[in-house]
Amino acid sequence: MLKIENLHAEIDGKEILKGLTLTVNAGEVHAIMGPNGAGKSTLGYVLGGRPGYEVTAGSVTFDGQDLLAIDAHERAAAGVFLGFQYPVEIPGVSNVQFLREALNAQRASRDEKPLSGGEFLKLARGQADLLGMDHDMLKRPVNVGFSGGEKKRNEMVQMGIVDPKFAILDETDSGLDIDALRIVGDGINRIMRKPDKAVLLITHYQRLLDYVAPDFVHVLEAGRITRTGGAELAHQLEREGYAAVNA
Ligand SMILES: Nc1ncnc2c1ncn2[C@@H]1O[C@H](COP(=O)(O)OP(=O)(O)OP(=O)(O)O)[C@@H](O)[C@H]1O
Ligand SMILES: [Mg+2]
Repeated sequence: MLKIENLHAEIDGKEILKGLTLTVNAGEVHAIMGPNGAGKSTLGYVLGGRPGYEVTAGSVTFDGQDLLAIDAHERAAAGVFLGFQYPVEIPGVSNVQFLREALNAQRASRDEKPLSGGEFLKLARGQADLLGMDHDMLKRPVNVGFSGGEKKRNEMVQMGIVDPKFAILDETDSGLDIDALRIVGDGINRIMRKPDKAVLLITHYQRLLDYVAPDFVHVLEAGRITRTGGAELAHQLEREGYAAVNA
């Protein structure tokens, strides 16, 4: 589904990704762990198409299509979803307005008719219920004044609504309370654990992986993947740290 080869990317002239190679097949969940500043979020941004990141070498194909050649909104329409480490606040735009626009823009690009306000609200409420999010939060401006954990839940509601094919989830577990961690983990499984979908799960902690069992765990260090293993690698890293595991 996703094939990244020898990816080099820089921001403001500083090279962050330095020859990253990774293949993700349909039906797989890949966890990415690694020290602060290694380039994990950068990888997410480059895949999501955030402006400012310059790819200087390498390639990324998504379902055989050159992902880097298309704009961020076209990537979203193709089924790529990026859950942010720091979800952005959008004052003045209600959560439902935002989510409905996002979904309908994607439906339009697939030649599907837009959902009416009523149809959309039903869908959004259903997703909010599944993630234990209060319906009132759908009416509030996007993420404004949301607590850290509420923002993360809101991202999962958004993911449930747009129903992507491939999700990059950047520290979706950070700031979640113990119950929310389970709810979000269950949500990821419910929405994304399908034979025709795949997930890249960026995380610092092994806990989330107890709920969303990864097929592969990778270590991203200094801009490239330095190790790959199974779920046991996450346990080993948590016990021993990055330096020891590489020694
Ligand atoms: N505009 C910029 N100019 C220079 N360096 C930048 C810029 N943006 C990001 N960086 C650097 O890129 C490196 C990688 O950042 P990135 O956010 O990808 O790390 P990360 O692996 O996600 O770390 P964390 O675990 O802390 O989230 C960091 O050293 C960061 O300071
Ligand atoms: Mg990061």
